[in-house]
Amino acid sequence: MEFFLPLYNFVLSTLVVSVLFVLWRVSFRCWISPSRAYQKLKRNGFKGPSPVFPLGNIMDMKRAIEEGSRSVKSDDESFNTVSHDIHSTVFPYYACWQRSHGKVFMYWLGTEPFLYIADPEFLKQMSSGVMGKSWGKPRVFKNDREPMFGNGLVMTEGDEWVRHRHVITPAFSPANLKGMASLMVESANKMLENWTALINSGQPEIDVEREMISTAGEIIAKTSFGISHEDGKKVFEKLRAMQITLFKTNRFVGVPFNQFIAPKQSLEAKKLGKEIDDLLMSIIEDRKTGIVVNNQKDLLGLLLEGNGGNGKAGKSLTTRELVDECKTFFFGGHETTALALSWTLLLLAMHPEWQDQLRDEIKQVVGDKKEIDATMIAGLKKVKNTILNEKQMMHVFFFT
Ligand code: HEM
Repeated sequence: MEFFLPLYNFVLSTLVVSVLFVLWRVSFRCWISPSRAYQKLKRNGFKGPSPVFPLGNIMDMKRAIEEGSRSVKSDDESFNTVSHDIHSTVFPYYACWQRSHGKVFMYWLGTEPFLYIADPEFLKQMSSGVMGKSWGKPRVFKNDREPMFGNGLVMTEGDEWVRHRHVITPAFSPANLKGMASLMVESANKMLENWTALINSGQPEIDVEREMISTAGEIIAKTSFGISHEDGKKVFEKLRAMQITLFKTNRFVGVPFNQFIAPKQSLEAKKLGKEIDDLLMSIIEDRKTGIVVNNQKDLLGLLLEGNGGNGKAGKSLTTRELVDECKTFFFGGHETTALALSWTLLLLAMHPEWQDQLRDEIKQVVGDKKEIDATMIAGLKKVKNTILNEKQMMHVFFFT
């Protein structure tokens, strides 16, 4: 027995040290580090709603949404009218915090601090020059949204971000985007034909938002990596499935160990992420080796060209990085556009006089032509001024 005592003591003390280490790591990550960040932000003058451990401001957000929907339901008049103030309608908590804390404030998702900025001047200053590179991206998205964005542009930081932007920005040149117009028109026409068929068959309602999201998804998939190839189609379907799975699990973003709240969905998203990565890898390898020749210039093709085939050292993207960028374009590019268009259509439906004006302009510029191209779109001044400029303002900032 005495022989085993030192071994027993050793095992016990190793166990105790390991448990203490894990506890220290967890409390550092979930408590000490966020508290330090909180104090630092406060010292630098950032105010905001007080967070409550471990949910941050998530419960405040839920309450504001519930209150918002209750007040709409209890008020018949407002139920039948839609406010133009999309910000307060969709994000009642931001609107409320903005009233109390101004146009720049911090809030918390779980144990992650976020900076809300609705002041263009502040945004310009913080994103210009050396400072622009040093603002980090939320760790929460790196963990929770890893299957969606991998290490693509939305997630990269500092010099890595500069390298990615250096390769990607030329692919978004106006000339390249013009070349993709026919792909976009094709999907939009398909959607409109479908709507016409539904209306003719006596269907009383069309879910415009859902239609917009699936059409925009198809357009982004076609223009990002192509879906004429069987693997491309599979990627598109799996990306949509992953989005639905992740949407179900995003209730507690930023809360420590939230992956254990919905483990089934987290695992499902991971599995889909892996399948998508494998499919995109094989699409890229096939294109690199010339097994599949893609005549249509999609973003992936342009990035491969920009990479100079094998890529110049330090100025190119690896296959893995290209995979992540394809996923980033898909997730960053389709729902944003679809929701902006759905909102636009809703407002136009509420204002037939605007519709008439825009229709007149479209009739004038496009006339009887069946195909609409980028040059015609450039001629639609009223459409651009009333709709596109407003929607694109923020985005131009990110791509110039
Ligand atoms: C109305 C439509 C759109 C809106 C409102 C929108 C909004 C935004 C916002 C707010 C960001 C900053 C996100 C952040 O850094 O946390 C962003 C970044 C980004 N968006 Fe968009 N977006 C739209 C359309 C698109 C499209 C069509 C694409 C691609 C095909 C796209 C690709 C990206 C990418 C790659 C980034 C990261 C840029 C970078 O960090 O350098 N977006 N977008």
